[in-house]
Amino acid sequence: MQSAKFDRRRVWKLSWAGAKPVSKLRLLPPVSPMAEILPTHTPELFEKAVKRAVELLRCGEVVALPTETVYGLAANALNEAAVRRIFEIKGRPATNPIIVHVASLEMARRCATEWPLAAERLAAAFWPGPLTLVLPRTAGIPDTVTAGGPTVGLRWPSHPFIQAVIRACGFPLAAPSANRSTSLSPTNAEHVRKSLGRRIKLIIDGGQSQVGIESTVVDVTIDPAQVLRPGMIIPETIVAVSESIKPLTDPFELRSPGLMLKHYAPKARLVVLRWIDDQNLRQQIAGFGAGRRRWHVIAHTRIPLGLPPGQVSVIPHDPEAFARALYAELHRCDEAETNLIVVEEVPDTREWSGIRDRLRRASASS
Ligand code: TXA
Ligand code: MG
Repeated sequence: MQSAKFDRRRVWKLSWAGAKPVSKLRLLPPVSPMAEILPTHTPELFEKAVKRAVELLRCGEVVALPTETVYGLAANALNEAAVRRIFEIKGRPATNPIIVHVASLEMARRCATEWPLAAERLAAAFWPGPLTLVLPRTAGIPDTVTAGGPTVGLRWPSHPFIQAVIRACGFPLAAPSANRSTSLSPTNAEHVRKSLGRRIKLIIDGGQSQVGIESTVVDVTIDPAQVLRPGMIIPETIVAVSESIKPLTDPFELRSPGLMLKHYAPKARLVVLRWIDDQNLRQQIAGFGAGRRRWHVIAHTRIPLGLPPGQVSVIPHDPEAFARALYAELHRCDEAETNLIVVEEVPDTREWSGIRDRLRRASASS
């Protein structure tokens, strides 16, 4: 896709390094150009960005789009070759199915062979929004999307940009989170640029993701339906809507093929701790052997006032605001090349179940 281009920075690097003759430049691997990043903060820019995204998606290209949960890496869900490119770009195992995004109930129903009562109720209550429903798939959904399985994950996202793109395309979009496999999901365009910027042509900047962690995934092919991946729509609300939901009993049960134990992880080691006071926290950090300036604390109730201020972040103590801020904090720690990220333990209540799940996976050792 990318041509071998003359890169001025490489020439400089080589001339400072001294020895390489210019003719050898042709042997260097090509450097892919950085993706175009289009803003959407005025109606005109929004329209222009929709047009460009649709143009590329219609040609079978992969583009990064904002959603209210996290940014997605989207392609035409009905085009097998385009979906295969998503797997290549992410380095994603072919065994992990991809969620199909729709922009209406009719479009969702066209992707599924059955529409049980639980799907009816949950879709009515939570769509558009951060909920994915697993349903029996139709033959039109390529095997690559479902990893060869008999079901498809469907979501109608609420972000206006991806809705506008799906409506204009007229086809559903397969979109996993726009990051390399198993690493941290992006919650803004800059996060995508840093990890995939040279692997794709277009990133749409739709602002900070408002939910901040990935959707709740519910399997409605079984009765009672089952939460496969907790998220910000909590089990109680789901049960209230569809009386037949079985919440995850063990959040580490491998129900969703993509739910590997270690997932959603920053580069740094992440630990979840509880502390009594600053001194107690310092002692615990020392026990992990991180370099003097190489650790970072993310607190929400016990704010360590005596620690270097640059090494402490405070994020809000309500689950919605916490989820919105968490990944951005973890991305910042990675940029600062932190060795150890200490996150203050969060409450063991239903409202925090999605966040607890992500923190446990991010802190898992393998
Ligand atoms: O909020 C989200 O869900 C974001 C945005 C972009 O929509 N997407 C996302 O996609 O998090 P991804 O691929 O990173 O995670 C999708 C999860 C994986 O754990 C995958 O295994 C599961 O959903 N999944 C997808 N299709 C499935 C299916 N047919 N059956 C069971 N699990 C499925
Ligand atoms: Mg993901």
